[in-house]
Amino acid sequence: MHSSQPTKLLFLLLALVFLSASYLVSSSPFSTVAISRLSNTTLVCALVPSPGSDRRYDLNCTSTSSWRQKSYHSGATAYSAVAAGDGFLCGLTVPDDDDSYATMRWWAFADHGSEVYVKRVYWGPPLAALASSDAHVCGLIGGSHRLQCWRWAGLAIPPGVNFSAIAVGRDFVCGLLGCGAVRCFGSDRTVVGKEPPKNFSMVAAGARHVCGVYGDGNLTCWGAGAPELGVALLDVVSMALGENKTCVLRSNGTVRCWGKGAPPPDYLAGEQFIAIQARGDAICAIMMVNYSLVCWGNELFRRNHTIYDRVLPGTCSRIASCSCGVLPGSGTMCASEDEGICQSCKLQLSSDPTSSPPPSQQTNIGGSSKRRMLLIIIGSVGFGLGLVALLTFLVSAALRKQGNGQVHDKVRVGRRRRSPATAQSLQEEASPDSRLGGGTIEEFSIHFLLKFADNFSEAHKIGSGSFGAVYRATLPGGHEVAIKRGNLPAAAVPSTSRRHEQLRIRDNEQRERAFCSELVLLSRINHKNLVRLLGFCSEQGERVLVYEYMANGTLHDHLHRRPMSPSSPLSSWPARLRVALDAARGIEYLHSYAVPAIIHRDIKSTNILLDAEWTAKVADFGLSLTSPDDEGSVAAGTVGYMDPEYYRLRRLTEKSDVYSFGVVLLELVTGCKAIHRSRGVEVAARAEEEGEGSTTPRNVVEMAVPWIEADDVARVMDRRVGAASAEETAAVAYVGYVAAECVRPEGRDRPTMGEVVGALERAVAACSGTAGAEPGEARRRL
Ligand SMILES: *[C@@H]1O[C@H](CO)[C@@H](O)[C@H](O)[C@H]1NC(C)=O
Ligand SMILES: *[C@@H]1O[C@H](CO)[C@@H](O)[C@H](O)[C@H]1NC(C)=O
Ligand SMILES: *[C@@H]1O[C@H](CO)[C@@H](O)[C@H](O)[C@H]1NC(C)=O
Ligand SMILES: *[C@@H]1O[C@H](CO)[C@@H](O)[C@H](O)[C@H]1NC(C)=O
Ligand SMILES: *[C@@H]1O[C@H](CO)[C@@H](O)[C@H](O)[C@H]1NC(C)=O
Ligand SMILES: *[C@@H]1O[C@H](CO)[C@@H](O)[C@H](O)[C@H]1NC(C)=O
Ligand SMILES: *[C@@H]1O[C@H](CO)[C@@H](O)[C@H](O)[C@H]1NC(C)=O
Ligand SMILES: *[C@@H]1O[C@H](CO)[C@@H](O)[C@H](O)[C@H]1NC(C)=O
Ligand SMILES: *[C@@H]1O[C@H](CO)[C@@H](O)[C@H](O)[C@H]1NC(C)=O
Repeated sequence: MHSSQPTKLLFLLLALVFLSASYLVSSSPFSTVAISRLSNTTLVCALVPSPGSDRRYDLNCTSTSSWRQKSYHSGATAYSAVAAGDGFLCGLTVPDDDDSYATMRWWAFADHGSEVYVKRVYWGPPLAALASSDAHVCGLIGGSHRLQCWRWAGLAIPPGVNFSAIAVGRDFVCGLLGCGAVRCFGSDRTVVGKEPPKNFSMVAAGARHVCGVYGDGNLTCWGAGAPELGVALLDVVSMALGENKTCVLRSNGTVRCWGKGAPPPDYLAGEQFIAIQARGDAICAIMMVNYSLVCWGNELFRRNHTIYDRVLPGTCSRIASCSCGVLPGSGTMCASEDEGICQSCKLQLSSDPTSSPPPSQQTNIGGSSKRRMLLIIIGSVGFGLGLVALLTFLVSAALRKQGNGQVHDKVRVGRRRRSPATAQSLQEEASPDSRLGGGTIEEFSIHFLLKFADNFSEAHKIGSGSFGAVYRATLPGGHEVAIKRGNLPAAAVPSTSRRHEQLRIRDNEQRERAFCSELVLLSRINHKNLVRLLGFCSEQGERVLVYEYMANGTLHDHLHRRPMSPSSPLSSWPARLRVALDAARGIEYLHSYAVPAIIHRDIKSTNILLDAEWTAKVADFGLSLTSPDDEGSVAAGTVGYMDPEYYRLRRLTEKSDVYSFGVVLLELVTGCKAIHRSRGVEVAARAEEEGEGSTTPRNVVEMAVPWIEADDVARVMDRRVGAASAEETAAVAYVGYVAAECVRPEGRDRPTMGEVVGALERAVAACSGTAGAEPGEARRRL
């Protein structure tokens, strides 16, 4: 706490220095070319013009062993920058203004370049730079230029270090501080700690070495495989470093390389280039004359150095932001009329591309605005989530601090109540200032309940849950309640011997005490999206719980009743999203505000109930509780909803509930059951496409997530809901993303319930708050 004042000052100083020195960075922080190495082949990936499409360009990869080309994209998403390493490729969107948001996808490849999976690894504020190495990808996030690295466990960067430029190596990352000093972090001792005391304007990294440019373009390199430069070079514009190979681009456009096999083939000597890129032994460069991408350095390229006839020579940005003009012909490559590819101020162009078509006026405004909308939707959420997460954290931390003392008191009070048979209301024990309010539950006598539930007759039975059968009853005064009657414990069977009898009584007492202290905790839980516990009965070995009655039954019944009644509120998207938000808030409360935190363990659509006003409430929580360290030796949960990680490791965390809730979200979006048979379901089209047996049971996660990932949620949206407006489709697509994030195989990749609530709030606002507002307004709110 005491150190916060000097730290703040340091930040301010850093910020000032950083602002005054940011002009130093001159080479583009983004690349349109990336090289991915696999065990048997090399993929050369680039943004290539695609005049027919909305996006105007594709992200294509060519395998150097098969020379086959494949396109990577997700719906209308246009990637503006790429990065790659061994076995992976990342595509990043670069929003054209600072108010919108960026997203990054990660494709993982198998040996021969077949795709293993695609995953969205980032959505949030725009990145200021992106760099990759064999194994890692790092970026600088937003205005603060905070460093974030993906898939790099154990990398520790001290807080408050903000870079203006970055370079990533195999086991290290280097960056320029505001003043131009270079700092490296990681485990490579030939690089880290060996930084020269110079002020750099540029930095680049290979597998195990780093080069920097200082002064007017002087080059210096260090690390394993760094070249012996010998001569002074004063005009370096950009650099590409591989393994034992170093190439630089000079201001007249020529390339100079060091290392075995690094210099370009003879026929390219003296040619001018716009950009260069390297990975391992491969070096690729974009030719100035015709924007062809040529590669060399690797045996595989000997057959044909030209990989693409024409690529995007840089990242599209607003023409107005290009201080040295745009590259000739680049206007037609970008998605919108006012965009082009900036020409580097340091590079002297000597020839105009002759083969480029004249800039055409035709633009696809629809396409670009669609793209922007998507960016806004995907991105703003990241920021929102961050904010919500922060708030949630602060609030929950504050509440936990405040709540702890109360709970200890409470438990002590509970223990004092030796005999639960005394018909005393727990109400008296609730502290009057309890912020959870009305922590009041009542103890009922079994005779009272038997009377009003007609001896628990079949006529009153409305269902059964994990705890036991559920009956409906109307208490005096007209209160409708749901009564859950626990399955009778074995000990309740009358026993013969006296000793057994004594044991039975002791056992029962213990059991009742445990039951009672759980009730004390549950009585404190009061949230409008949790089914409220009103009372209990613990008598004669019976354990009975009395809950508020939920007039409209379970979400499962409404969602999966076929045909769905057109009058059902669940036949509209805004109503479905509201149900999702309600339930999410209930679960968030259990995770973040209940003390101690409660993990539900069995989130599913049958445990989400709807009251007379169609408010969704979560039921069946909190019995045989509670916290992550409570060793659940038996995996609890329901097939189709169970977190695979929990199932495997038997380690219970809040993220298991997040997984199950993700499945519920997918049920809401698709209208399919968690485990369903494809025949007759709305997704038959997909089953046909795959030519598979249409009666195989399918998991909604496996069925829906690939389409959501491909930005094609429309394929799996429940068709029983009428035609969706543009706002609704955008909101549902977004909720689909949220669901896909929730069902990630690994818990740490899933959002928290706080983040989920924030995302759903945006979706609901965008979907239903459109009356009177401009349509774009709603989208912006997402
Ligand atoms: C550095 O980044 C942190 C966030 O990681 C931010 O709070 C701080 O203001 C930044 N400092 C500068 C100098 O930009
Ligand atoms: C590709 O690599 C895999 C494993 O690394 C190997 O089994 C396979 O034979 C290789 N294929 C070719 C064509 O080299
Ligand atoms: C990109 O890849 C797709 C799919 O293989 C192909 O149809 C398209 O022609 C490629 N684009 C270019 C410019 O080569
Ligand atoms: C680097 O820049 C800082 C701030 O501008 C300056 O104080 C320092 O002397 C410079 N170091 C070198 C080696 O030029
Ligand atoms: C660049 O390097 C040359 C040769 O090493 C040296 O003479 C010159 O002073 C350097 N320039 C700067 C600005 O450091
Ligand atoms: C790079 O150089 C080091 C040391 O000379 C050597 O061990 C390594 O195999 C080289 N790597 C490549 C790809 O040539
Ligand atoms: C580019 O500049 C280098 C050094 O400044 C010079 O050796 C080379 O001849 C130049 N090439 C062209 C094509 O101008
Ligand atoms: C090399 O590849 C490019 C792009 O795929 C193609 O246009 C060109 O014809 C090829 N050249 C030769 C000699 O195969
Ligand atoms: C681009 O220019 C280079 C050098 O003039 C030439 O070798 C190559 O064939 C050209 N590529 C295309 C697609 O015209």
